[in-house]
This record gives sequence, C-alpha cells and structure tokens, in this order.
Amino acid sequence: MDIEAEIRALQLDSAEDGTGMAIPVDAKPEEVEMTDKVEEVEMPDKVEEEGTKDEVDTKSQPAQDEPKVKDKEVAPLEDAEGTDEMESQKKRHLNVVFIGHVDAGKSTTGGQILFLSGQVDDRTIQKYEKEAKDKSRESWYMAYIMDTNEEERVKGKTVEVGRAHFETETTRFTILDAPGHKSYVPNMISGASQADVGVLVISARKGEFETGYERGGQTREHVQLAKTLGVTKLLVVVNKMDDHTVNWSKERYDEIESKMIPFLRSSGYNVKKDVLFLPISGLVGANMKTRVDKSTCPWWNGPCLFEALDSIEVPLRDPKGPFRMPIIDKFKDMGTVVMGKVESGSICEGDSLLVMPNKAQVKVIAVYCDENKVRRAGPGENLRVRLSGIEEEDIMEGFVLTSVVKAIPAVTEFTAQLQILELLENAIFTAGYKAVLHIHSVVEECEIVELLQQIDPKTRKPMKKKVLFVKNGAVVVCRVQVNSLICIEKFSDFPQLGRFTLRTEGKTVAILFVEVSKLSCAFSCCVTFQKRSLADCCFSCCITDLLI
Ligand code: GTP
Ligand code: MG
Repeated sequence: MDIEAEIRALQLDSAEDGTGMAIPVDAKPEEVEMTDKVEEVEMPDKVEEEGTKDEVDTKSQPAQDEPKVKDKEVAPLEDAEGTDEMESQKKRHLNVVFIGHVDAGKSTTGGQILFLSGQVDDRTIQKYEKEAKDKSRESWYMAYIMDTNEEERVKGKTVEVGRAHFETETTRFTILDAPGHKSYVPNMISGASQADVGVLVISARKGEFETGYERGGQTREHVQLAKTLGVTKLLVVVNKMDDHTVNWSKERYDEIESKMIPFLRSSGYNVKKDVLFLPISGLVGANMKTRVDKSTCPWWNGPCLFEALDSIEVPLRDPKGPFRMPIIDKFKDMGTVVMGKVESGSICEGDSLLVMPNKAQVKVIAVYCDENKVRRAGPGENLRVRLSGIEEEDIMEGFVLTSVVKAIPAVTEFTAQLQILELLENAIFTAGYKAVLHIHSVVEECEIVELLQQIDPKTRKPMKKKVLFVKNGAVVVCRVQVNSLICIEKFSDFPQLGRFTLRTEGKTVAILFVEVSKLSCAFSCCVTFQKRSLADCCFSCCITDLLI
C-alpha cells in the first residue's frame, strides 16, 4: 500500500473559523471582533516531487522513559495591571513552534529573534557570551536566551519547550522552542500541539542536514508529527548558511530544498500553498529581521524571516464557540493559575467555568495574555488564567478548562480510525497493543482493545472480512481504552482536541493517523497496563464522531 498517498488523503487541516483576539482591560467591546490580516507572500515555485519512499529509521534509538512534558517561560511574566503595551493586544496573534533535528539551531534562531526584536539587550548577550565560554560552549550564547535551565545550558540541548513573545508591526507572536533530541519528542509534541505555524529549522552545515534527514533524524519525525498535530503552515529555514562548509552556497540550499520538498509533500503538506523555504543564519542574524545583504548572498531574492512570519495568515477561529483551554501547566499565585492555549471560545474575567474531567466549578479571577492582564481573550491565545474554587493540586496537565454549557466530554474509551504507517519490527497491530496516547496536553497509556473494521484504503469503504490483526499501512477502526478519564472531542468538532498521536517503545518509528469515531463515557471495565519504558514509535491520530 502507498502509505504516503494515505497520509495525503488524511490531511488533517484545522477547521477552526473566526478569529480570536485578546482584549486589553481598557479596550472597547467592539474591538473583540477586529481582525488584521496581511496579504500572503507568494511562495516561490518548487521543484516537482520525485515520489520518494521516506522511512524513519530509529534503529539506533534506545528505549527511553517518557519524559515529563513541560514548558518554560523564557521571560517570566510579571503581573501587569494596566500596562503601556495594551496597544499590542489589538494586533493579530500567531503561535509559532520551532521544530527540527537536534542542534539545527532552533534555540539560537529563537534567541536571535528576541534579540533583533529588542527583547534582549546587549548586556544580557555579553553575560551569556561569558557564561557560554565558561561552559566551553562559546557558540551557544544566543541559544541561552531560550535555553534557560542549567541542564539545558550545560548540555547545549533544549529539554523543555521554551516560550517567549515578540511582535512585529502587524503581529504578536508566541514562540515555542521545541527540543530536537529524540528523548524529548513528547515535549516537542506538547509544543507543536499549541502552535498554528511551524518553523522547521534545518542545518545546512556539511553532514548535519544529512543526519537530521537521511539517517533517521528528527527532521522527518517532527514534520510528520507537526502535520498531524495541526501545524498547517511551515516555514522551512535552511540555517547555518554562514558556516564555512556552506558559505551561503546556492547549490547547498537547492540540494536541501529539493530533498525536502518530496518528503514534505508525502507528509501531507501542500508545498506550493503551505510551505515557504528561506536561507538564514540564526547565529549572526542574517536574513532574519532584514533581507540578507547581496554581498553575502547575491542569489536570494525572497523574503527574510520576519517578512515571512508576517505574511502567514492567522487561522480562522471561532470566538463564539464553547470554551476549551487544555491545561499545560499550573501553579499557585494568589489562587490557582493555569496555563494553556484557547482552542475555542472566549474567556472573560468573572466567567464561571468547569475544570474537566473532575467537574470542578471555578470562577475566573483574572486573565493574562503575554505580559498583560486582559479583560477578555479569544481562541488562539496562550493564556494564564487565575481561578478560584479549585486547589492547584486538584488540577493535572491534560485537564481542560471548559464552558459549563457544552462542557468537553470525559471518556475512558473511544473508537478511532487509525492508519498504521510503520510498526516495530515484526510487530502486528492487534487487540492488546499498548501505546502512549498524546492528545492536546494529555499523555496517557492506552490499549487497543478491539479491532472493529478494516478500511479499504482505495475505496475508503469498510471491508467485509473480520479483522484480527493488521500490518503496516493498514487503515483500521478500533476501540481504544485509557486508564483514567481524558477529555477529547470529535475531530470534526475540534480538530485540535480530536487528533492524537500514539507512541510505543521500540526501534522503528510508526505513525498512525486515527479518526476517532465514537467515544463512550460510561466504560467501567478496568484494564491493567503494563508499565513500560516508552520511546520511539509514533502514531498520529484524529477524531471524527462522538457518542456519549
Ligand atoms: P536542540 O534544542 O538540542 O534541539 O538544539 P537547537 O536546534 O536548539 O540548536 P542550538 O540553537 O542549541 O544550536 C546548536 C549549535 O548550532 C550551537 O553551537 C549554535 O551556535 C550552532 N548554530 C546555530 N545556528 C547557527 C548558525 O546560523 N550558524 C552557525 N555557524 N552555527 C549555528
Ligand atoms: Mg534548542
């Protein structure tokens, strides 16, 4: 079976509609509907697809314990009651995740963006230069802006998703700097699930593109995961163009672009419409805020990174839908504060909401968007919300802040349509298959309890034969169980809360696209899960129908 064709057929684009904006405490009510779209920069013509067969080889990857999914705020936010920056809240807003292979330069590029946009001063950079030198990591000083943990600085590897904010004339951006190392893929999944747009960072340095792309690197895995997690637009930045092995070579850039295009297509991206390539140097900041100098790169006539980011259309969002905010983090601060991205609806100070699945009734004391306290915020915004009526210890990551009317369902079982892309060597997919399910901010062990129907990938109709097991490439409807209640949705209602990724331990990456077709809230059977160490296999999934 042509797995790539199946992925294309199952393109999982977000179907949100309307645009959400955060409204500063002093803004007029009518400003809530305001949108501020910018014309899209035309994507350059791409080389035609060669139809490559892309395999993710993780044979060398050891089984790892699934690390704790966590984000870190790069510049800790002060509570600001009535700030001068209120104007900024009227701009359009985009969440951008930086993805790509380890050491591609994601944190360096993110740090450089903050420096170029005036978020970081020269003194801080000098301090980081000294600190990096002391750690014998001279060239990592720019990455230190995003990599704030000691562990990250010592190892030169991002662990937790870094979160920061910057803005251009037209747009406020939330940057999510994902880790590239294979051990931290769950954290990358958490970052990507909060994003609208991906910046795929690829190192052009000799050998580095190859390890990221050709030898089972995370370039491929991140692209496939990003697509299924709802990152519909990609900027592919070919980084380290300043490196002496590259020296802004057009040949090297073209080589990378021509290898990436067929793979991006096979992963479900419409390369002409949804992907833009550009060369940069994150380290020296070239082709980032302003276009690269002709004396440095005479052949580049396209946009710089800031222009490209500004050109991306904000996805349509529904500010009037039922409120949904998956909780990615929580802490105590004059009450209980929860953090997350609003996937649907709007939130106001004083609102009465529910925390699901524990059905706790809460009141919204305050809403913070970036550094600012806001009166109201809409979908797409990354928020901190102060709540009363619940203790911090009664909330877990993966819980969802939801409207009382049309509250999000909580389930322990659902049926889903999965596409199996690649299983562990010699593995068959059958009842009893165990994996880890990642859906919005939920990470839960799950078990496939029954295969219900196999789908003919050509006709997309159910096959008559009873199905007991399937192999790579199959599309199958199955029943999935989890141990504890989780909050999920039909894919057709809320794509971001209705598509998921399954991962299992092992050597070979496997990816499933799943459409959940039924959810059952009242499931009482207790399933015992074997504790496993989890690492490398991936499945990506989405939800279509819901029965409660
Ligand atoms: P992980 O978080 O571990 O996945 O890595 P990363 O993608 O965030 O890479 P990071 O920014 O930490 O950079 C890794 C190394 O690449 C550092 O030594 C950087 O200085 C170097 N680097 C990043 N961008 C550039 C660049 O544009 N040019 C050159 N020459 N080196 C770069
Ligand atoms: Mg990093």
